[in-house]
Amino acid sequence: MGVPTVVSIDPLEASIPAVETLAIDGGVPVRTAGWPTYDRGDVFISGADEQAGIDAIRRRLYFRYDHRPFGETEAGRFEAALCAYFGTKHALGCTSGTTAITLALLGLGLPPGSKVLCPAFTFAATPSAIRLAGHEPVLVECDADLNLDIADLAGKLTEDIGAVVVVHMRGFASDVDAVRALTDPRGIPVVEDAVPALGARLRGRLLGTLGAAGAFSTQSDKSINTGEGGFLITDAAALFARATVHCGAYEGRMDRHFDTPDAPPGHVSDLDYPIFGWRLDEIRAALATSMLTRLDERVARHQRNHAVVAAGLAGESRIAVRKPVAPGALLGESLMFRVLDPGPAAGARFARALCAEGVSARNIGDPVDHNVRAFWNWRFCFPDPAAAKRALPRSARFLEQAVDIPLSANLTHADCADVVRAVRKVIAGLPR
Ligand SMILES: Cc1ncc(COP(=O)(O)O)c(C=O)c1O
Repeated sequence: MGVPTVVSIDPLEASIPAVETLAIDGGVPVRTAGWPTYDRGDVFISGADEQAGIDAIRRRLYFRYDHRPFGETEAGRFEAALCAYFGTKHALGCTSGTTAITLALLGLGLPPGSKVLCPAFTFAATPSAIRLAGHEPVLVECDADLNLDIADLAGKLTEDIGAVVVVHMRGFASDVDAVRALTDPRGIPVVEDAVPALGARLRGRLLGTLGAAGAFSTQSDKSINTGEGGFLITDAAALFARATVHCGAYEGRMDRHFDTPDAPPGHVSDLDYPIFGWRLDEIRAALATSMLTRLDERVARHQRNHAVVAAGLAGESRIAVRKPVAPGALLGESLMFRVLDPGPAAGARFARALCAEGVSARNIGDPVDHNVRAFWNWRFCFPDPAAAKRALPRSARFLEQAVDIPLSANLTHADCADVVRAVRKVIAGLPR
């Protein structure tokens, strides 16, 4: 299956009459076919992927640490394929993106209760993983493009910060180069929560390879879909050894993750750390290895869809389409923009109007439909949402304005034209 070339949207294709009643107000919707999303079964899975899963089931060996040589297990093969794909020394499969981030942080061996910086715009799993690793999340503001605000980060890099978790949120690369220019001189490690950006790059380098460790998910919504699952990649042997033990490689199993010339660091013993049982199983590993072979094709499709839709909306002055920190530094599985209309809950009204037009959309800061990506909704961090918003006023404002549209890898050119048409139609229906 090849990737169709980029065809920009013909202005007529996405044109709308000057005044058209919005579907939310009783007008005719732009589309009536369901919007393609993974949870409705619209997934990027091939016959070869299915066969790989079936073969693993038929083999009847579901535990990764059985009698077979490490390289003959599905999990061992997946980890070797990850090292080849990313060019890293080590990879470890685990149960989820959340456990991958937690394992990366545990691998750093920070003192318990360390402060760990992360962006205000992220999924609740990021601060959850920081907590799970025994540390305290401290949030950094996002900028007008919903990317990490580097100036705010600089102000928050105090003596007591143990690590920074950057997040490539909704597929947009965080500027890890700018972050490391600040953290490296202070010796502060950077972990990448690259969960939403598997296969995307920053200035030519794969996300996840730019810090001490990169954490990924293979949950159904991600670029590799095994239902649930995750992995981490790193070049740091001691971090990797500790993460492997925490993940559940007990009684000498940690040693199997190291080639003979590349022995595990002597000071890391599998008796020293709690074992959490976050091991990857053989069936999911088999599916993931198969899907990894088509990852680049999937990424190219996402990027094409995003480029087509973003170009179609480039001239719109009443929304600000989210821009990457460098050319091409995004996965493209989500179109995000801020609604610049000053009215109350303008972002929420815009998203609802889009849904009525037949295009899935959510407002991150929706006051009614509480989104888990809005930091003030994390009651485990912020018992008082209003105080949380006051502490991070710019992020709160930008997220209240932000609309998010999922762009499946399977979108057709007509689907992309529908997004452009629906967004333009809703803009035209905004009060002047
Ligand atoms: C930024 C981010 N981090 C972590 C996660 C958690 O991944 P998982 O659901 O595999 O634990 C997600 C899930 O979507 C995410 O978007």
